[in-house]
Amino acid sequence: MSSSTISNSRLDRFLAPDSRTARSIARAREVLPGGTSRHHYLFAPWPIIASHGKGCRLVDIEGDSRIDCLNNMTALVHGHSDDDVNRAIIAQVEKGVSFSEPAEPEAALARLIVERVPSVDKVHFRSSGTEAVMMAIKLSRAHTGRSAIAKFEGGYHGYYDYVQMSTTSTEANWGSSAAPTPVPSSGGISANVPDEVVVLPFNDPDGVERLLAQHGPRVAALLVEPLSNRNGMVLPRPGFYDFLREITRKHGIVLIFDEVIAFRVGTDGAQGRYGGDPDLTTFGKIIGGGLAIGAVGGRNEIMALLDPAHPGAKVISGGTYSGNPLAAVAGVATLEKLTPAVFAHLDAMGKRMRDGANAILRRHGAKAQVAGDGSLFQVVPTDVELVNYRSIPRGPEANAWLDKLHRGLLVNGMIISHRGLSCVSSAMGPADVDECLAAFEQAVAGLDA
Ligand SMILES: Cc1ncc(COP(=O)(O)O)c(C=O)c1O
Repeated sequence: MSSSTISNSRLDRFLAPDSRTARSIARAREVLPGGTSRHHYLFAPWPIIASHGKGCRLVDIEGDSRIDCLNNMTALVHGHSDDDVNRAIIAQVEKGVSFSEPAEPEAALARLIVERVPSVDKVHFRSSGTEAVMMAIKLSRAHTGRSAIAKFEGGYHGYYDYVQMSTTSTEANWGSSAAPTPVPSSGGISANVPDEVVVLPFNDPDGVERLLAQHGPRVAALLVEPLSNRNGMVLPRPGFYDFLREITRKHGIVLIFDEVIAFRVGTDGAQGRYGGDPDLTTFGKIIGGGLAIGAVGGRNEIMALLDPAHPGAKVISGGTYSGNPLAAVAGVATLEKLTPAVFAHLDAMGKRMRDGANAILRRHGAKAQVAGDGSLFQVVPTDVELVNYRSIPRGPEANAWLDKLHRGLLVNGMIISHRGLSCVSSAMGPADVDECLAAFEQAVAGLDA
């Protein structure tokens, strides 16, 4: 589809009150709270509903095709229904989808990760990124004999109680920037959790140093999301992750890099790009090639706690689907295709998108920017320099701007998340990026109207 076609045919059928989408979501809401089990994609009045996808295009149940710059929340690094990944999955389906016994694909995927990430000696699989984070925290507690954790304000690490803190805080409850208040970001979090979580200001070495001087002796792990989408994909200030490495070592704290999204930026992930050399790393999304997966990897010394033959304290693990061969073969096929040349392509497409979109925003005088790195990009409703969570406006005005832009993009043929998270896939070439930029131009022009 050419950009001129897009501008002449608005893809807004899903919004009609009598559309198939409206009827389908109404039926789904009868049996699913909110109409789906994943809240992060939901937006008003209702989401588009996926029918099928191929490469960088996703077709909704109205039959409308858009370029997908969300790719199952960044998991599909090669886009939809990739032929090589499909072949691997289908071959495994013929053999069996899961077993009680170990199967060889699990170790094959672990080996690929170990070969790529120098800080990882061993890998332990889980079935989601959230579970990987839970296990990394449990390992850190067993290793240090401490209980509390430290995390950055805005950092998202899934929906485990101890990390679902201060991911949605606002001016009304976030407290001082020097010592952010731990604020539960969901109902149902145990009342004693806030006492076990130290919230740190991102990109602020003095603040981190002060808070760890105070709380360090009770902190088992410091978690960092190296490119944090709720923080506008703000880049670390030069040396910030090496500083985290030093200060955590000084206080005997396990440093965990949560690369569930950020592993997308290069062969050895965000730690290869920005430094940090963590003790543990959590993975998810791309390492499962689109199937459910999570993993924690790290140094022998800590990972040995998961070995039943370990002589000391052990961490006991379960999980009916952990290390299942179906996700493992999909992950192997995905990572084998992620060569240095493919990463260079992803970098180039990501840069083309960010540069092009920023030029459009400037031309229209919009107080917004497109941030990110590598294949990741994020629309952020401010033109000030990003430092951390508090740089980003989160009030009704900023959200309304994002909602309008998101709607404009959908009707002009481009999918991003309604809070701005986006990424390119290796299935996209320059013409596809330019088609997205044409949609972006239309959507931004529509904001002025
Ligand atoms: C950085 C990060 N950590 C953890 C998670 C949780 O992963 P999952 O959704 O697979 O449970 C996510 C999910 O988006 C994430 O972005």
